[in-house]
Amino acid sequence: MAPPEGEKIQIGLLGYGTVGSQVYSLLEGQAREIAQASGARVSIKRILVRDLDVPREGAPEDTFTDDFKDIIEDDDISIVVELIGGTEPAFDYITEALERGKAVVTANKQLISQQGFYLFQLSQEKKTQIRFEASVAGAIPVIKVLRESMVAAEITSIYGIVNGTTNYILTEMSRTGTKYDDALACAQEWGYAEADPTEDVSGKDAAAKMAILASIAFHSNVRLDDVDCAGIEDINPLDAEYAGELGLTLKLLGVAKLYDDSINVRVYPALLSQDHPLASVGGAYNAVFLQGRSIDEIMLSGPGAGGMETASAVVSDIVSIVSRRTPGFLEYPIAYKELDFFPDENVVSTFYLRLEVEDKPGVLAAIANEFGKHEVSIEQVIQKGRGVHAELVMVFHAVAEKSFMAALEKVSALEGVKAEPRPIRVEGGDEQ
Ligand SMILES: NC(=O)c1ccc[n+]([C@@H]2O[C@H](COP(=O)([O-])OP(=O)(O)OC[C@H]3O[C@@H](n4cnc5c(N)ncnc54)[C@H](OP(=O)(O)O)[C@@H]3O)[C@@H](O)[C@H]2O)c1
Repeated sequence: MAPPEGEKIQIGLLGYGTVGSQVYSLLEGQAREIAQASGARVSIKRILVRDLDVPREGAPEDTFTDDFKDIIEDDDISIVVELIGGTEPAFDYITEALERGKAVVTANKQLISQQGFYLFQLSQEKKTQIRFEASVAGAIPVIKVLRESMVAAEITSIYGIVNGTTNYILTEMSRTGTKYDDALACAQEWGYAEADPTEDVSGKDAAAKMAILASIAFHSNVRLDDVDCAGIEDINPLDAEYAGELGLTLKLLGVAKLYDDSINVRVYPALLSQDHPLASVGGAYNAVFLQGRSIDEIMLSGPGAGGMETASAVVSDIVSIVSRRTPGFLEYPIAYKELDFFPDENVVSTFYLRLEVEDKPGVLAAIANEFGKHEVSIEQVIQKGRGVHAELVMVFHAVAEKSFMAALEKVSALEGVKAEPRPIRVEGGDEQ
């Protein structure tokens, strides 16, 4: 089915860096899906950059401008997407866009955590919208969930791992006993930390995000300055190690709680019991754990940063804005594609297998040989029991299911293999 014709919506993009350039390529590459979901044809008309002489890939050259007037004074541009970061001139640009009744999308946590309240009021006064999903927890749609899906949830507390850099560093310290400085250097080498990591490791970045989340969850104005924060610079690796021995995991947590008519929002290093859902959120991942009177507990987790991930949140805000003006996805069929089904036998899977075998020389070699012939490689094998009750328990590297099943058929027929083997798929292994 062809995408709907729909209204034409034009965007002015401010900034063409890591996120801005990915927003451009997502809007181009996913044009059909976006048209289908929003009921409009959405495109970027102009892009603001500082230096026009810098060569840039993606958008055509005549899209770029170094003059904000080309965007703000263009009446065809109805949405301004701010991706330059920092508070100035972003604040002035956003204010002017809202003043003129244009809708705004931004990923700017510094700005929203400091000036959000003023901007929300201005957007209401001007009967337009400001959306900022990408300002907290990257690709995780926590703001939309809080504002829309949990409108009646009566949120009582939010626990967030909302800074990927510090979570990566603490995960490394706990996992390997590395000192803070070495874990930070490693995070910088892998691109999980900036050359100047101060905002992240001091807890200030997490504080800005918790201010935004608390404002939305508790419908009250929480600014960055209202959030006390302590960072992870002074964490001793011994604490991470001893915590592990006690069954506890060290995290930099943002905690926002509602106490009757007051709220408390803070960021600090904290120990979590290993069975807490947030304890297993490792590396550069983010997660937000919500508790509410009518929802009990819900956790959202995923990549907290990255150009493409953040861009996907920006695009979802654009679609939300456009959908409020057009019939949108509710008016179009949900299943508008006719995709083929991918055959089960070609799915790449990891398997666990328990084989009842005769405990005699040559059996394991014959089994390994049969799997090898089908290019099925064994990751781990352990032997349980002896004599008539011997068992081999095996885990395999990911492989196309047809190769595994073909090998298994041969293995089952081997002399020395007793009962019919029953493989179980292992999820979360090295399959793609
Ligand atoms: N990167 C992420 O993973 C991520 C995740 C979550 C949120 N964010 C947020 O997304 C926003 C953009 O981040 P980013 O990583 O894309 O930043 P970036 O790579 O540094 O890109 C910023 C872009 O804005 C341009 N710019 C800066 N000041 C400008 C001005 N006064 N006029 C015109 N253009 C200007 C820069 O131009 P030059 O190239 O000339 O400097 C650059 O193209 C920030 O608010 C950031 O906090 C980013």
